[in-house]
Amino acid sequence: MINQDTISKIMDTARIEEVVGDFVALKKRGTSLIGNCPFHNEKTPSFNVSVTKGIYKCFGCGKGGDSVHFIMDHEKYSYPEALKYLAQKYNIEVEETVQSPQNIEAQNARESLYIVSEYAANYFSNELWTGSDGRAIGLSYFKERGFREDILKKFQVGYSPDSWDALINSAVGAGHREEYLEKTGLAIRNDKGKLYDRFRGRVLFPIHNFTGRVIGFGGRTLKTDKNVPKYVNSPESDIYHKSNVLYGLYHAKKSIREFDNCYLVEGYADVLAVHQAGIENVVASSGTSLTTEQIRLIGRFTQNVTILYDGDAAGIKASLRGLDMILEEGLNVKVVLFPDGHDPDSYMHHVGAGEFKKYIETTRRDFILYKATILMKEAGTDPIKRAGIIRDIIESIAKIPDEIKAAVFIRECSSLLQVEERTLLSELNKMRVAKFKKASGNSPSPQTQSFQQHQSNAYQPCEDGPPDNLFETSGPYEATAPTVETSIDEVQEKEIVRLLLAFGHELVTWGGIDNMYIGSFIIQNLTDVVFQDKLCGLIIETYRAEIENGHLPVASQFIQSKDRDVADLAITLSTSPYSLSENWEHKHDIYVKDESVNLKSTILGGLFHLKKAKIAGILSDIANEIKTEADPANLEILMHKFMAMKGVEKEISKHLGITILK
Ligand code: CTP
Ligand code: MN
Repeated sequence: MINQDTISKIMDTARIEEVVGDFVALKKRGTSLIGNCPFHNEKTPSFNVSVTKGIYKCFGCGKGGDSVHFIMDHEKYSYPEALKYLAQKYNIEVEETVQSPQNIEAQNARESLYIVSEYAANYFSNELWTGSDGRAIGLSYFKERGFREDILKKFQVGYSPDSWDALINSAVGAGHREEYLEKTGLAIRNDKGKLYDRFRGRVLFPIHNFTGRVIGFGGRTLKTDKNVPKYVNSPESDIYHKSNVLYGLYHAKKSIREFDNCYLVEGYADVLAVHQAGIENVVASSGTSLTTEQIRLIGRFTQNVTILYDGDAAGIKASLRGLDMILEEGLNVKVVLFPDGHDPDSYMHHVGAGEFKKYIETTRRDFILYKATILMKEAGTDPIKRAGIIRDIIESIAKIPDEIKAAVFIRECSSLLQVEERTLLSELNKMRVAKFKKASGNSPSPQTQSFQQHQSNAYQPCEDGPPDNLFETSGPYEATAPTVETSIDEVQEKEIVRLLLAFGHELVTWGGIDNMYIGSFIIQNLTDVVFQDKLCGLIIETYRAEIENGHLPVASQFIQSKDRDVADLAITLSTSPYSLSENWEHKHDIYVKDESVNLKSTILGGLFHLKKAKIAGILSDIANEIKTEADPANLEILMHKFMAMKGVEKEISKHLGITILK
């Protein structure tokens, strides 16, 4: 048991922004810090950290708590584990009350796996630096390849003696259990029940999780024999899940955030070499092909990835496709190619650190434009090939979730490929329709949006002409958005309830309306709206009933409601996301003032967006039918229906924009 004094000391010392900051890139917004939530997948930040209150809160998924909670949630640690982590981070000595033998016995098995892995890393490193074979074979190998000692030490590389049980004997001798050696895969049990070392006569790269604990190893052979596998790697274990680990992330994360970019290489040696060149924001997917989880892991630190490829043509073409996956996660991708079949490691040692650094900084190119250039060069003047390539490139662009970004690429590719922008756009739309039709199973619902984004819904009159493409606006292809947590309806519904509670008592005179309460105005405008969120619907109905009885409700009435759910929602809507700011009153005041200045557009904006969301729902229902409809005649009817509904959408905009806004 950790004693109370130690716990208090840890709680007093730990700074939430530093604890969270080790895992999440935080940016200052007003008085709090904001970042992408590590507990759910999101592309726009809704994760708030209040420095003064020492807490975090995600307005997207609702997770919140203090430093200890964060570490428990994030690292899946127990309470004492999280305290120990923080103690270590802040160099606080942990005083524990004496543990019973049972307690020691029961000590978390995961912890034992970490401990035995750390033991092995030290053992292998010791062998490399002091063992006779280690020095003669392992260390000299690294030296020959041009690696500096400080880099080898930083990455804790090691050497496993060419023996069947060197590690086992040493570890068991030091009191480690065979069970844990086996569970981490450091040792393997054969058919006869005999345990033997997995890594024999190899140089070893320990793999760290991003808090710096050793979770696995990659072992490279030093033999040139083709029959010997080049790498032997740790298997999956309770502490090592390959698909969500990036080699080098622990050493890179600070620098990734600092430079707002992450270099991605293929191998362990490449990570070391790039570090040696003084570039520390580098990681490797090592072994597995890049996974979505790994991309999201990077996405927590930066939105920019630069791939360092080895330059052989076959490799490039193969990997071009894999990169679309990164685009799909909304990250920006740049690439650097190395000449003459060099990989980052060989090129760094070939030209030296300074030249290498210059090279990657000056030759990196945007992935899509790069792809366009090399494929076009390859196609030459062959029109059929060119058409295929254009399609291929548009396919990449179609993966980009951000519409504006995609539009910019279309423009740039248009000049690069010498194809009219309109043609590319229509190709893009075709692809999206096809993609949308293919995405079976999940019913179309618009992309996730955090409530926060919608705090200012101020209505902008819509002036564009009729859409010349079915899927031009926020249409159904958004169905392919990877995750949907709250529907846009719900967001807009909550927003309108928030406005109702915040401004219901304001009197307004707009255009044809004279001295009317906003509360009444909003309620009148909601007669044709069916609420999806039960609680929102309940509040609206209560509000309406009271008005009909000649009484205008106040917010506190809902805040103090006996119905716990109604009260909670009213509180949330009256405070969040501002409740975390240090001087809430002050902030809230400013906020309210800002909105009040433009009250008319705030309220109309809220109504407009809600109605638009409702129409979008209807539109996506139709689109859903389009997806499954095979008969061209029916398809045509559905298309017409869709267009007609689009017209209604337009009408709503116009009605609000012209009749009321004036
Ligand atoms: N890899 C693996 N098993 C193999 C080959 C490769 O797990 N049989 C993984 C390793 O993580 C390796 C990465 O894929 O680091 C890239 O492979 P490669 O370029 O062949 O290895 P390098 O680490 O670059 O090795 P070296 O430069 O020492 O040849
Ligand atoms: Mn290599």
